[in-house]
Amino acid sequence: MGWMTWQRFRCITDCAKYPDECISERLIKRTADLMVEKGYADAGYKYIVIDDCWLEKNRSDDGYLLEDRARFPHGMKALAHYVHSKGLLFGIYENYGNKTCAGYPGIYGHEKVDISRFADWGIDYIKVDGCYFYGNDYSKGYELLQKTLNSTGRPIVYSCSYPAYEDESSIPTDFQLLADNCNLWRNYDDIQDSWNSVTQIVDWFALKQDHIAKFAGPGHWNDPDMLLIGNYGLSYEQSKTQMALWAILAAPLLMSNDLTDIRKEYEEILLNKRIIEIDQDPLGIQGLRVYRRSSIEVWTRKISPVNIDEYSYAVAFCSRRTDGSPYEFTTTLRRIGLKFTMGYTIQDVYSGDEWDGIYLSNTNLTVRVPPTGELNACLFIRFLFI
Ligand code: GLA
Repeated sequence: MGWMTWQRFRCITDCAKYPDECISERLIKRTADLMVEKGYADAGYKYIVIDDCWLEKNRSDDGYLLEDRARFPHGMKALAHYVHSKGLLFGIYENYGNKTCAGYPGIYGHEKVDISRFADWGIDYIKVDGCYFYGNDYSKGYELLQKTLNSTGRPIVYSCSYPAYEDESSIPTDFQLLADNCNLWRNYDDIQDSWNSVTQIVDWFALKQDHIAKFAGPGHWNDPDMLLIGNYGLSYEQSKTQMALWAILAAPLLMSNDLTDIRKEYEEILLNKRIIEIDQDPLGIQGLRVYRRSSIEVWTRKISPVNIDEYSYAVAFCSRRTDGSPYEFTTTLRRIGLKFTMGYTIQDVYSGDEWDGIYLSNTNLTVRVPPTGELNACLFIRFLFI
């Protein structure tokens, strides 16, 4: 869990024009301060990651990467130190290829030198992108990088972007190798600040779930990309839905927003303890879309506590309907995979309210799912077996 610059701040480098938004040590320090002050750090958001556009356009004469000193006047080492002094962890972006996606120097051919420098700076996380790669085999290169990272002796979270590039080119990804080498990986195209983009990502995850979900687990995760919550593109219901589905997907929760001015109700979504607990459930089992009818989709995730082979579940009923009143939807628990014969208790995950009664797997459960289209509203509940 953490925060990343890209989605909200992109490649803004003109600090004269946009002093509060440019990719700079000022932005990172401000964000680090706010992560602590506003309770994000306590809620579990620990990593602050600088995405693309932190470098000088060229390497030094002796071949080193240089941080842009106009925007990072004290250098990355000092910045890492600042982030650490706040009890947070520090991440950066690089690219296994000749250039980063935004055109800054890549690490291809300089792997050893660059990575030992990053370790010396004190990085705790690296996102390695895959633009401008002209070799044959991404996975071999990323495996070598994994070994290089490990040889530094410093624990560094390794985020691998190449599956997204393989997917784009219809190259089959070896997910076992990915899970062996990487801590998280971007499966699919970039998230953009719109509900349409979230829907596309969610549909892709549902389509591929039988193939990819089993490779998720503690230490190695599918990554549907950053949380948009607090930005321009999502409504309140859509924001709740992104958070719910990311939790069902056992996704890394990397916000990309401006923490200075997030409206209270959006902050509450990002800080919701029950959703975070589901997302971070120690079993680490990725959830699935298990059922669809009448434009209602049912997503379930097995979570703890668990007793022999009875799981608890997080369940999201999400609507793609556009007719205005909450839609009445009836199913048995058994049909959506909850089979424990003694039954379950239910809690609303957004509000924390407990529902009355015990819900048996064979009897009908009727829920009302809020509307307004394109999967942008979910009822998110937690089932605890009795
Ligand atoms: C690619 C990645 C994004 C971001 C940009 C930076 O598009 O998928 O997440 O890192 O590059 O240029």
